[in-house]
Amino acid sequence: MTAVAEAPVEAGAVPSFTVTLRIARFDPESHGDEPYWQEFQVLAHGTDRVLDALHKIKWDQDGSLTFRRSCAHGVCGSDAMRINGRNRLACKTLLKDVNPDKPITVEPIKGLPVLKDLVVDMEPFFASYREVMPFLITEDGKHPSKERLQSAEQRARFDDTTKCILCAACTSSCPVFWTDGQYFGPAAIVNAHRFIFDSRDEGATQRLEILNDKEGVWRCRTTFNCTEACPRGIEVTKAIQEVKRAMISRAF
Ligand code: SF4
Ligand code: F3S
Ligand code: FES
Repeated sequence: MTAVAEAPVEAGAVPSFTVTLRIARFDPESHGDEPYWQEFQVLAHGTDRVLDALHKIKWDQDGSLTFRRSCAHGVCGSDAMRINGRNRLACKTLLKDVNPDKPITVEPIKGLPVLKDLVVDMEPFFASYREVMPFLITEDGKHPSKERLQSAEQRARFDDTTKCILCAACTSSCPVFWTDGQYFGPAAIVNAHRFIFDSRDEGATQRLEILNDKEGVWRCRTTFNCTEACPRGIEVTKAIQEVKRAMISRAF
């Protein structure tokens, strides 16, 4: 047991405990090409998140520890990582919720090249995102001359997929993506869904043709890892199924 209760807690004080983080390190510049594990002990509080523990390590113990983060509040999507074998946002994961009695493993997300420690190269992920043209398209590039109104029902049709923060937790939890990294991946399909079902958009046919590719939606094996991993609670697998259906029926 590595979580050790500290001094008796005064009434109203937040209890503190010592937690061990077992972090996958990779730094070709100083440690060669082999990844390795390193353990750190951190004094944490019941309200601390995994991101807080990573900060304490970086600021107080080893400044070379490398990870991405920006907003620290579940908005920017930059700190997706594997925590105890599951993709999560470090800023949304409380230490007390991931069994701090045992060492907590922290690894980079899978399927993307690791650059250093917990930082992966996101370019293949964003290349797929760009390919589905995640913006409103008008036929022949004509600029609309008046406001395009939309009913509440039409807006609701793609509401769920507007919540994506492009964290890659879904795509990097998908076993099909792990096999060769060629599959467009659930995040790109979610973002295509957001526009395919938008009544103001006129590029659905183009997007469906792109996703009909051999690396497109048909590679999805409905394993649901993506839905489980999404920190925004998006019904990712359902969105993929809806895109598949639209491809067959051409109704959207
Ligand atoms: Fe992240 Fe969810 Fe968007 Fe996937 S669908 S990139 S898990 S927010
Ligand atoms: Fe992968 Fe999600 Fe399909 S995990 S196989 S994209 S349901
Ligand atoms: Fe922005 Fe976690 S740091 S989502």
